Amino acid sequence: MDKIVQISDIHFCIKDKNHSSRKHLSLVLNKINNLYDEYILVLSGDLVMNADRAHYLALYQYIRDFTKSDIYAIPGNHDNIALMKALAMQEECFKIQDVLEIGNNDIVFLDSSEKGEHLGGGKIDLAYFEVIKSQLRARANKIVFIHHPPFKIGADWFKKICLDNGDLLMQSLSEIDNLKYLSYGHCHNYFSEERANTVFLSCPSSWIQFDHSCHHETKYDQEKEIGFNVFHLSDDISHETVTISVC
Ligand SMILES: [Fe+2]
Repeated sequence: MDKIVQISDIHFCIKDKNHSSRKHLSLVLNKINNLYDEYILVLSGDLVMNADRAHYLALYQYIRDFTKSDIYAIPGNHDNIALMKALAMQEECFKIQDVLEIGNNDIVFLDSSEKGEHLGGGKIDLAYFEVIKSQLRARANKIVFIHHPPFKIGADWFKKICLDNGDLLMQSLSEIDNLKYLSYGHCHNYFSEERANTVFLSCPSSWIQFDHSCHHETKYDQEKEIGFNVFHLSDDISHETVTISVC
């Protein structure tokens, strides 16, 4: 397996007929299948609109109708990690784990769903992160997936709901050799910057993007493309962000 496809902020909704989360997710999954035969899927948080058993199982089944690929998930602020872990044990559902080794690549899945100071914000358990870090192979290339961006980006209102203890996480991340990517969701838009040989990349929402030029309140940009990230694993990992117009 040499490809990871990341989908984020699906906000899957079972009932509301006008909610475009299902329709847009189908556009994304069809596009992925048109481009690639084999891949693993990573869902980087805010999987469902209501974090209950019915929504998680319905989303899992919805995606299963498009692909047999392994599906890994991390929680976002709209998720219930205890329920996600229980479903992973009891049912055929999304895989929940800390680290996945693929060849010479260590894929790290972080949980930032602990509530932050502001509604929608997040926090990470830094002591637990140190435990995960100790399991990583020194020479392996690393990709970290997390829902909340570890630094403040975007609109003023959004800056308040990034990772509360992001400064400490960034400090800890700087000690990891060969950290090629940190890829986050939550921002419902496109951001990318390189810091000290690591690409900090956002994954757009598969449902709808935020208008980050509006600073005082949450505003959606209905016309902005939906999309997903693809990571090509080799000695030199690369990525592309694929977009789909919904207008
Ligand atoms: Fe979020």
